[in-house]
Amino acid sequence: MPNAIRIHETGGPEVLRYEQVETGEPGPGQVRIRQTACGLNFIDVYMRTGLYPVPELPATLGMEAAGVIEVVGDGVKDLVAGDRVAYAMAIGGYAETRLIDANKLIKLPDAIDDQTAAAMMLKGLTAHYLLFRTYPVKAGDTILVHAAAGGVGLLLCQWAKHLGASVLGSVGSREKAELAMAHGCDHPIFYREENISQRVRELTDGEGVAAVYDSVGQATFEASLDSLRPFGVLATFGNSSGKVKSFDPNILAPKGSLYVTRPTLATHTATRELLVEGAERLIDVVSKGIVKININQTYALAETAQAHRALEARKTTGSTVLIP
Ligand SMILES: NC(=O)c1ccc[n+]([C@@H]2O[C@H](COP(=O)([O-])OP(=O)(O)OC[C@H]3O[C@@H](n4cnc5c(N)ncnc54)[C@H](OP(=O)(O)O)[C@@H]3O)[C@@H](O)[C@H]2O)c1
Repeated sequence: MPNAIRIHETGGPEVLRYEQVETGEPGPGQVRIRQTACGLNFIDVYMRTGLYPVPELPATLGMEAAGVIEVVGDGVKDLVAGDRVAYAMAIGGYAETRLIDANKLIKLPDAIDDQTAAAMMLKGLTAHYLLFRTYPVKAGDTILVHAAAGGVGLLLCQWAKHLGASVLGSVGSREKAELAMAHGCDHPIFYREENISQRVRELTDGEGVAAVYDSVGQATFEASLDSLRPFGVLATFGNSSGKVKSFDPNILAPKGSLYVTRPTLATHTATRELLVEGAERLIDVVSKGIVKININQTYALAETAQAHRALEARKTTGSTVLIP
């Protein structure tokens, strides 16, 4: 029987159990995949701790993976056994094999290997919607990316730079600053020791940035608002330091008629059209080497708890891949 990482209750990394789970046969519109690489994302931590509810327990966690189609269910068009595919935002990813709706899958070109696909789908589709839909970045814009050396962060820095933006990036260490700067970040901000908004004002001649892409959440929310220029956009899209506390929208007026949005990749991949648009752009920039995927940590699937510990302890950079 195939193995998977499941939780039977929410809690710390110790609730992640490596166990045998029956996969079964695909129903209409589904396929069965043999997975070769699974992505690790902060959303997996939120689901493990209970910050985001899972549909039912026990649950196989994991939202992203790549692999090969083994069996195709009735009514599936355009996919056959043997196709290499990848997906994001479909719970059940931490597994050797799984069933999945075919309309969630993106076929992989030869230029993108399975580990790269598992490292880029969820984070890359996120970077795509943030830069193209949430606040469409234009050449000449200055933006601020928090956790710039992280999984989503490194993709945002590279892609925004390619679009012609000037990129400020907050980082937790000197090593992370080096990495971010090698991937499109023009100016690192050491947010553990520097005042973020003061530093942003210094770097932008007092003006502030057009947009802040903030995945850190609670710890950076106010500084992010204070870093914006008039009419600037705060995309608060994650909670790695905890959930943003409720706030009074009146504070946005004196700070410059600001916009705050709390987007999710779930909405941005809810239709086939939205998913394909993002995936095509992502595959294009990765295939051409414009956006490089940094797999800086790999773990055996059985060692997923260790990978969670490292991610939560801010010990990772770029993407982490779990190998079934
Ligand atoms: N809304 C969406 O659609 C969406 C989609 C994908 C991801 N996300 C969010 O984007 C964020 C990034 O995800 P990722 O998987 O790429 O993770 P990641 O950025 O690689 O890892 C999190 C990083 O956040 C920073 N951080 C700051 N305060 C932290 C704290 N108290 N605890 C832990 N980390 C802290 C750390 O970098 P430093 O050491 O440099 O501070 C850490 O390495 C997550 O918040 C995730 O939920 C949202």
